[in-house]
Amino acid sequence: MKDSNWTRDDSHLPKALRGLRIPLIGSPLFIISVPELVIAQCKAGIIGSFPALNAREAEGEPPLLDAWLKQITEELDRHNQQNPDNPAAPYAVNQIVHRSNTRLERDLEISAKWEVPVWITSLGARVEVNEAAHSCGGVVLHDIINNTFAKKAIEKGADGLIAVAAGAGGHAGQQSPLALIREIRSWFDGPLALSGAIASGEALLAARALGADFGYAGSPFIATKEANAQEEYKQMIVDSTAEDIIYSSLFTGVHGNYLKKSVERAGMDPNDLPSADSSSMNFGQGSSKPKAWKEIWGSGQGIGDVQDVVTAGELVDRIDQEYRAAGAQLASEFTG
Ligand SMILES: Cc1cc2nc3c(=O)[nH]c(=O)nc-3n(C[C@H](O)[C@H](O)[C@H](O)COP(=O)(O)O)c2cc1C
Repeated sequence: MKDSNWTRDDSHLPKALRGLRIPLIGSPLFIISVPELVIAQCKAGIIGSFPALNAREAEGEPPLLDAWLKQITEELDRHNQQNPDNPAAPYAVNQIVHRSNTRLERDLEISAKWEVPVWITSLGARVEVNEAAHSCGGVVLHDIINNTFAKKAIEKGADGLIAVAAGAGGHAGQQSPLALIREIRSWFDGPLALSGAIASGEALLAARALGADFGYAGSPFIATKEANAQEEYKQMIVDSTAEDIIYSSLFTGVHGNYLKKSVERAGMDPNDLPSADSSSMNFGQGSSKPKAWKEIWGSGQGIGDVQDVVTAGELVDRIDQEYRAAGAQLASEFTG
């Protein structure tokens, strides 16, 4: 796709995951990932994604998820007809498989109807979710924070894994990516993405060098024009670095990484936060928890690489150039 001097062999991957311009997935971001961003990511040649829960219709209205999937499918089809030599990458939908997600069954049906090509599942591996995805030819990537959960996910029928390592935005893990990817690769040779602080081509190359098939990047896409985030949030991503991130369980009941300045802005002391237990997690329709994401802004540690608010296409261009330059530089150490 896009560039002719591409020689990466991805033939071991399921078809929906092959032929990307660079091996990158734009990860699902609660509230922030909307069709405009997903379409821009896919047109730029990387997998774009959104959480199904972002499509929230008002009471009594038809499911917004159905309308979003129609919009994305039609827009990408149109693009592919007009650009047969430069087709868009496939898109992914994220299903939160947590018991508080009361919409799950309905969202699975709608996603199967639209034959969503890539399904990203988080917070609990469930056989029936994998079956729904496979019923329409979809590929399931399940996100995990350690090797035990990774094994469970594959036992329950996921096709691939997203290793969410320390430093990732949202509900991050605590393990080093160096340890986590190597442990998973000791027994699993299927599709594997690495999540956490990948905001540059250099970091993407490191993920590939470790043995991941893909990088999985969220926070850098918050500072894009297509992202559904307040301008102040986008600017805070641009202005912040790894030191401005705190890891806390207070806001959703699960540990995650957040921008310190947004915590201060909400009147709290980021250096003196109590912790919360996981029973307070709630992903139900109309839950009060989105406040955690609306006012307390999530971000991973990799944002030191984000210098400007740009379009998603420009961000992918930058990562692509850095990835190729860093790869060529490193390869030169091993030749001649
Ligand atoms: C604001 C925000 C919202 C997120 N929402 C979701 C979500 O709804 N579902 C999900 O699976 N992951 C979610 N994540 C996690 C990301 O998909 C991904 O794992 C993470 O952003 C990657 O790390 P990075 O931000 O350092 O690139 C979220 C992350 C952030 C920063």
